[in-house]
Amino acid sequence: MKVTYRGHSVVTVDTGNHQLIFDPFITGNSLTDLKPEEVKADVILLTHGHNDHVGDTVEIAKRNNSLVVAPNELAVYLGWKGLNVHPMHIGGSHQFDFGKVKLTQAFHGSAYTEEDSQKIVYTGMPAGILLTVEGRTIFHAGDTGLFSDMKLIGELNHIDLAFLPIGDNFTMGPEDAKLAAEWLRAKQVVPVHYSTFPVIEQDPHAFADSLPGGVGKVLEVGESIEFK
Ligand code: NI
Ligand code: MN
Repeated sequence: MKVTYRGHSVVTVDTGNHQLIFDPFITGNSLTDLKPEEVKADVILLTHGHNDHVGDTVEIAKRNNSLVVAPNELAVYLGWKGLNVHPMHIGGSHQFDFGKVKLTQAFHGSAYTEEDSQKIVYTGMPAGILLTVEGRTIFHAGDTGLFSDMKLIGELNHIDLAFLPIGDNFTMGPEDAKLAAEWLRAKQVVPVHYSTFPVIEQDPHAFADSLPGGVGKVLEVGESIEFK
C-alpha cells in the first residue's frame, strides 16, 4: 500500500487493487501536483462538505464512476448530483471491498458554499476517517480542533499513520496538533492543511521536530509512505 500527500488535505492511497483519494480539492489548490482530469479514483473519501475538501469530487467521480464515501447529509447532497454514494455517520464503520472505514467525530463545520448563487448548503457533521487496509490503519483527521476523545480514538485503534491539520485559524495549530499526536498514539504523524493560503502558513518541519523521535514526518507534495 502506497500513501501519498497531494497538498492541503488531499491524500491518495494505492492499495494495489484500488485507488482511493481523500478530500480531492485540486482546482484552486496552490500546492497540489494533481490535475483533476487525470485523477484515477475507485473511491473518494470525504471528511466534510467544505469546498476545500469536496473540491473536484463531482468531476472525478463522474469520470471514474467512483464510489463516494461521506457523512450522510453530504453523501445525500452529492447523490442528488448524480454520484454513486455510500452515506455513513460518526461512530459507524463499514467493511468495503477496498478496506474498512470508520467515521470519528471532528470539531468543525460542514457546509458546501455555492459561490455563484451565494448559497450555503449545510451538510451535517464533519468527520475524521479511520481507514484500515491489510491490517494497517490510517487516520485522516479532517478539519478539527483538538478534543480529548482523541485519547479514546488512540486507545481503541492502533493507528499506523495519522494526517493531522496544523494550519491554525480554521483547525488545530501546531501546539494543539502536538497534543493530538500524543493522544492518538499514532506511529507516524504527517502534518496537513497548512500553507495553502496565507492565513494557514506554518512550518511543518518545526511541528514534526516537536514530536518524539521519529513520529513526525513531513511529506513533500507527491511524496509517499509505503507499507509492505
Ligand atoms: Ni473545513
Ligand atoms: Mn479545510
